[in-house]
Amino acid sequence: MTSHLWSGRFDAPPEAAAFEWGSSFRFDRRLFEDDVTGSIAWARGLARAGVLAADEGRQIEAALTAILERGRAEPASIDGPDEDVHSFVERLLVERLGDSGRRLHTGRSRNEQVSLDLRLYLRRRIPALHRAMERVIGALAGKAGTAGDALMPAFTHFRPAQPVLVAHFFLSHAAALRRDHDRLTGARDEADALPLGSGAVAGTSYAVDVRALARDLGFSRVVANSIDASSDRDFAATFLYACALSMVHLSRLAEDLIMFCGDGLRFFDLSDALSTGSSMMPQKKNPDPLELVRGKSGRAVGHLMALLTTMKGLPSGYNKDLQEDKHAVFDAEDTLAGCLAVTESVVDGLALNRERAAEAASGLLLATDVADYLVGRGVPFRRAHEIVGALVRKLHAESRDFTSLGLDEWRAVSDQFGADILARVTARASVEAKRTPQSTAPAAVREALSEVSGWLATVSR
Ligand code: ARG
Repeated sequence: MTSHLWSGRFDAPPEAAAFEWGSSFRFDRRLFEDDVTGSIAWARGLARAGVLAADEGRQIEAALTAILERGRAEPASIDGPDEDVHSFVERLLVERLGDSGRRLHTGRSRNEQVSLDLRLYLRRRIPALHRAMERVIGALAGKAGTAGDALMPAFTHFRPAQPVLVAHFFLSHAAALRRDHDRLTGARDEADALPLGSGAVAGTSYAVDVRALARDLGFSRVVANSIDASSDRDFAATFLYACALSMVHLSRLAEDLIMFCGDGLRFFDLSDALSTGSSMMPQKKNPDPLELVRGKSGRAVGHLMALLTTMKGLPSGYNKDLQEDKHAVFDAEDTLAGCLAVTESVVDGLALNRERAAEAASGLLLATDVADYLVGRGVPFRRAHEIVGALVRKLHAESRDFTSLGLDEWRAVSDQFGADILARVTARASVEAKRTPQSTAPAAVREALSEVSGWLATVSR
């Protein structure tokens, strides 16, 4: 029979099925290395406080180091009938050291241990998400660079709105991912507080120097309040929010690419290697990876809702409900990591159809530029909008666009139109007329691209 960390209080062993059902070792084994790292630091803290004799402290540390090495070398050995990863590590330690191993948990609770492990885990894993996100941003910047001065329409209400540079489109998605990158940094900072010393809920009776312990584990601060710390999962919720919003952004990029690579628009072609066919319809080339990215955003958003709902209304102090945090955190992490990797490949593999994209960037969507021309001649914008609106209505009805108008026709609409109107009403002139730094003006886009490239160089250093 397995004995549990808390067997003393009970007459009978737990019901096997209920115990198994409530156990977390199946999934919290992912915290193995963090649990051992935290335990090594705790053993040192106990030794420094004189709670453990110095040689016993060293013995425990050596045994834990050996346990860590074995677990790293043979991940399959991180397994057993244990309730959770904390019980597992303690069992191995007691198997190696007997009573010395039984002293490690002095003054410590699994309540703070699980918080510590999850904080260590996030600090260790967020950098990998950062790198993956930088690679997507790099792929987008790469496409912006090769697009050069290529044109495409930007959409509002999914109706063609105004001409933009293709590079501006790619950099628009990079801009959103840059915010996500910052949000992940924020989640990492929020996890950066040592919960040890909180005990089960009231603190610990041993004079462990928690500030020194924080320094040992690379934390910049210690939590403020032991009651709060035992049930605080704000840092996990912040991480889930960062993942959820990143996934929302990836889903929007996916949707744009699904539309822009589709047969209707064909501004880009998807690489064959990142498309799939139909079992029945031989002509199909489907954007499955992009659809999956779009679809998986639901999981990430769901995990945020799940944890917030679990946290809502919990009484003060640790409650077992919080064990659910790990399902959310691990799956959100996996989902985001997988989607970032496939998005990078899809973006890398896009081929631009310059002519099609440019062609779609002209026509009646130059109407704002025509109105701006009149404004330049002193016509109030509201009047200009009305004049051009009426002209668009007529051209639309006759299936024509601005290029088909002769100067006499322009002048019949307004005597403010001069011979230069024809040169002004092109997609190229439209982007070149933009004046603000966030606009699609070619100089502004070049500047934005060089800013992104500079940022990528800094973060990859
Ligand atoms: N497996 C638990 C969790 O994930 C660890 C903490 C358990 N503490 C306790 N007193 N049952 O939250």
